[in-house]
Amino acid sequence: MKDFSGRVAFITGGGSGAGLGQAKVFSEAGCKVAIADVRQDHLDEAKEYFKDKDAPFLAIKLDLTDREAYTAAADQVEKTFGEPVTLLFNTAGVNTFGPAEASTFEDYDWVVDVDLHAVINGMVIFVPRMIKYGKGGHIATVSSWGGFLASPGCTPYSVAKAGVNMMMECYWSALKKYNIGVTCLCPTNIRSNIGEAVYTRPDHLQNTGYNVNEQTIEHLRQIHAQGMDPVELAQRLKKGMEDDILFVLPFTDDPEGTMKGYCDTLMNYVTKEGMERIEEQAKKRREEMAKSTGAFPKNEVGWGKARPDLDWVKDEGMQM
Ligand code: NAI
Repeated sequence: MKDFSGRVAFITGGGSGAGLGQAKVFSEAGCKVAIADVRQDHLDEAKEYFKDKDAPFLAIKLDLTDREAYTAAADQVEKTFGEPVTLLFNTAGVNTFGPAEASTFEDYDWVVDVDLHAVINGMVIFVPRMIKYGKGGHIATVSSWGGFLASPGCTPYSVAKAGVNMMMECYWSALKKYNIGVTCLCPTNIRSNIGEAVYTRPDHLQNTGYNVNEQTIEHLRQIHAQGMDPVELAQRLKKGMEDDILFVLPFTDDPEGTMKGYCDTLMNYVTKEGMERIEEQAKKRREEMAKSTGAFPKNEVGWGKARPDLDWVKDEGMQM
C-alpha cells in the first residue's frame, strides 16, 4: 500500500494516544480521516487539533462494542466523505492489571469486548464494504507485543491481543486476492492515556479482582509517560503498511532477532531443560522491565496486585 492520498481512513480510539497519532500522520498523507472514540473529551482534543487544519476530518462518539451503533457510524462516514472506508485502523484498546488468578468474569468481559470483539466488529462491518468497492485498501490493527508474550499480570489483555494477532494473520492471507493489505502493529510502551482506561469501564462490568484506585492509575500514567511518541509510532506503522509487513515491531531495529527470541522461548516449553531456561528468562525479563520503566521496584501503591480482600491470592509482586 503506497497510495494513501484521497482515501477514507477510519480510526478507532482516534481521540487519544496511538489513534490520535495515526489521525495526524495519515491526514498529512492526504487521507480523509474519521475517528471514533467513546470519550467525548478525547474527541474534543482531536477536534481542537484539526480545527485549523485544512483537511477533511470527522469525529464520531461511539462505543465500538455496540454493533448497531458501529454499523451506523460506518454509514455516516461513507455518507460524509462520499465513498467507503478503504483504510481501517483498529486502534482502540483498554487494559487493567492484576494477577491472572484474581480475574473476574467482568475483567475478562470488559477487556476482551474492547480489545478483541470490537476488532471483530470492525472487520465484519468494513471488510465486505471494502471488497465490494473494489479499490483495494489496508487494515492496520494495533495489537501489542503482549499478544506474543504471556503476561500473567494482565491475562485478559494477553488473551485478547493473541486472538487479534491470529485474526490478522488469517485476514492477511484471505484478503490478498482483493488487494487489501493487513498489518498488525505490536508495540511495547506508548505515551498515551491507557493508564486511565478504567474510566471507560461500563457500569455493569465494574466488579474487578484487581487492586485499582486513583494511586494505581497515577502510577500507570507515570509508566506510560515514558512510552514511545504516538506520531513516531504512526510513522513506523505507515512504513510497515507501505512495505506490506504483517507484524510490525516498532520498538526494535532487529524485528527478526526479536521474533526469533520469542520463538526460542516457545521451543523451551516442550522440554524439561527448556522449562528451566524459561524460569531464568522470566527473571531476567522482570529485571530488564524494571530498568526500562524505572517503575516496578518503586511500586509501593499496589499496582498490579489483587483486590485486597482476595486473601487467597499469593502476592509475589507485579508479574509481567
Ligand atoms: P489511549 O487510552 O490513549 O487511547 C485509546 C482510546 O480508545 C481512548 O481514547 C479510549 O477512550 C478509546 N476507547 C476505549 N474503549 C473504547 C470503546 N469501547 N469504544 C470506543 N473507543 C474506546 O491508549 P493507547 O495506548 O493509545 O491505546 C491504543 C492501542 O495501543 C490499544 O489497542 C492498546 O492496547 C495498544 N497498546 C498500547 C500500549 C501502551 O503502552 N499504551 C502498548 C501496546 C499496545
